[in-house]
Amino acid sequence: MDQVVRLPVTPDGRHLREIFAAEPDRPVRHCARIGDLHVDWSRQPITDRVLGELHAVAEDAGVARAFARMASGERVNVTEGRAVMHMALRAPRSTVMSVDGVDVVPLVHEVLESMRATANRIRSDDRITDIVNIGIGGSDLGPAMAARALRAFSHPRLRSHFVSNVDGADIDSVLADLDPAHTIFIVVSKTFTTLETLTNARTARSWLVERLGPDAVSDHFIAVSTAAQRVAEFGIDPSAMLGFWDWVGGRYSIWSAVGLSLMILIGPDRFDEFLAGAHAVDSAMTSGFGVDGSTAANPIVTLAMIGILNRDVLGRGSKAVIPYAQELDRLPAYLQQLDMESNGKSVRADGSSVSMPTGPVIWGEPGTNGQHAFFQLLHQGTDVIPVDFIGFARANNDLSEHQDLLMANLLAQAEALALGRDGGAEPHRHFPGDRPSTLVLAEQLTPSTLGQLLALYEHIVFVQGVVWGIDSFDQWGVELGKVLASRITPQLVSDEPIPADTDPTTSAAIAWYRRHRSR
Ligand code: F6P
Repeated sequence: MDQVVRLPVTPDGRHLREIFAAEPDRPVRHCARIGDLHVDWSRQPITDRVLGELHAVAEDAGVARAFARMASGERVNVTEGRAVMHMALRAPRSTVMSVDGVDVVPLVHEVLESMRATANRIRSDDRITDIVNIGIGGSDLGPAMAARALRAFSHPRLRSHFVSNVDGADIDSVLADLDPAHTIFIVVSKTFTTLETLTNARTARSWLVERLGPDAVSDHFIAVSTAAQRVAEFGIDPSAMLGFWDWVGGRYSIWSAVGLSLMILIGPDRFDEFLAGAHAVDSAMTSGFGVDGSTAANPIVTLAMIGILNRDVLGRGSKAVIPYAQELDRLPAYLQQLDMESNGKSVRADGSSVSMPTGPVIWGEPGTNGQHAFFQLLHQGTDVIPVDFIGFARANNDLSEHQDLLMANLLAQAEALALGRDGGAEPHRHFPGDRPSTLVLAEQLTPSTLGQLLALYEHIVFVQGVVWGIDSFDQWGVELGKVLASRITPQLVSDEPIPADTDPTTSAAIAWYRRHRSR
C-alpha cells in the first residue's frame, strides 16, 4: 500500500451504557461464528456507521487483494524477498498452493509424514520419557504454549521441557531433572545460527556425551531447520532433520516441523485436528471477502479494524489478552511475538514513514489471576486498555463448579469494564466504564479450537499490517542488538583495554562487569 490511509471519524462519544440502551439487539448483530469460535465485539465502541467507515478503510487499503497475493505465493515479504505461505502448512492434500510455480502442498505433506513417523516411533518407545525442545522466539513460543494448552491431550508417559534463554539457569534446571538415556532433544532453529539455541544445544550435547558417549548423539538429537548444511556442521545427521522452508516465518511456524514436540505429545491425529482448525479459519477468511474485494461480510476483518479503531483513532497503545483458561497461560507471550514482531514497525514496506501509530503493546495473564493484580488499572486507571477475553464453556477437567466460577468472572469483568458503576459521593468507588472488550469463546479448548484461535490472530495481524502499509513478515528490529552483543561478548572476558570507540556508558558497564565477574 503506498497511499496514506484515511482514518475513520471517531465514534460519537456516547458511553457504552447509552449505546447498549439504544441498541438492544447489539449482542446478536455484533458477533460472529468463525469456525467453532463465537466472537462477540458488542462491547467495542462501534456503531454501524463506524463499522462502515472502518471497512471502507480496509477496502481502500486493498486488504482482499493483499490477502489473495499472499495466498498465491507472491513475495509479499518484500524486504526479505520471500513468499509467506503458512496457510499452506495446514492446507489439505487436495489443495494447490504454489511458490515460484511449484505446488508446495505435497512438500508440506511429505514432511508431515516424516513427523508422524518420528512422533509414532517416540510415542511407542517406552524408554523415552522426556522431550526437550531447544529453540527461541518462533522456534519455542508456539510449541511451548501449545504443549501447555493441550496438556489434557498429552501422552501420559511423556514430559516436555522447553529451553530458550541463553541464561544458563534455563537449561541447567531442565537438565538437572533428566536421565539422558530417556531423553530426546529437538533442536529447532529456522536459520541454525541463533546464538541462544546453538549455545543451549551445545550444552545439551556435551551433557549427553559426558554421560552416554559421542555415539549416543544420533539417537538422542533431532534437528528442525531450513539449513541442512549448518545442522550437519553442528553434528546432527541431516537424516535426523525435519525441514521447512524460507516462506515460513518463525512466528508463523508452529504448523510446520517446528511443531514436532507438540505432535509427539498429542499424537499425529490430534496434530491433524490442530491443523484442520487453523485451515477452517483460513477458509472463513478467504470466503469472507466479496468478489469485488469488499470486506464488510468478513468478521475477521471487522476484528482487525476494531483494533485499528482502538489504536489509531482512540489512541490506545496497548491491548490485554486475558485467557480464562490456565492452560493458555503462555498465549499472551505467543501473541506478543506474533503481533509485536509483525507489526511493531515505523517504516512502511515502500521505505516511507508510517502515517499513524502501528502495533500496540500486547500483554496479559490468565484470568482470574490478573483480576487480583493489574485489573485495578484496567477499571480505574487513566489509560483505557482494550481487552480480549478468551473463555470456554467446558473445562478439560471434571471440576465444572470451578469452570462456572471462572466464566462468571470473565463475564463480570467484561460487564464492569463496559458499564462501570457510579460511585456516588465516593469517587474512589467510581468505575467509569466505557472500556472496550471482545469475547472469544469456544465450547472447549481442543487441538482444533486452539488452531482456530491462533489462525484468527494471525489473520487479524495480517489485515492490520496491510492497513498500515508495513511488511508484517520481516523483523529487522531484532538485528542491531544481536550485532552489538557479538561485539561486546569478547570484551567482557578480555583483559585488554576496552576499545576507545565503545560508547562511554557501555564502556563503564563493561568495566563494572569485568571487575565483578567470577571465572
Ligand atoms: O531474533 C528474532 C528471530 O529471528 C525470530 O523471528 C525467530 O522466531 C527467532 O529469532 C528464532 O530464529 P531461529 O528459528 O532461526 O533460531
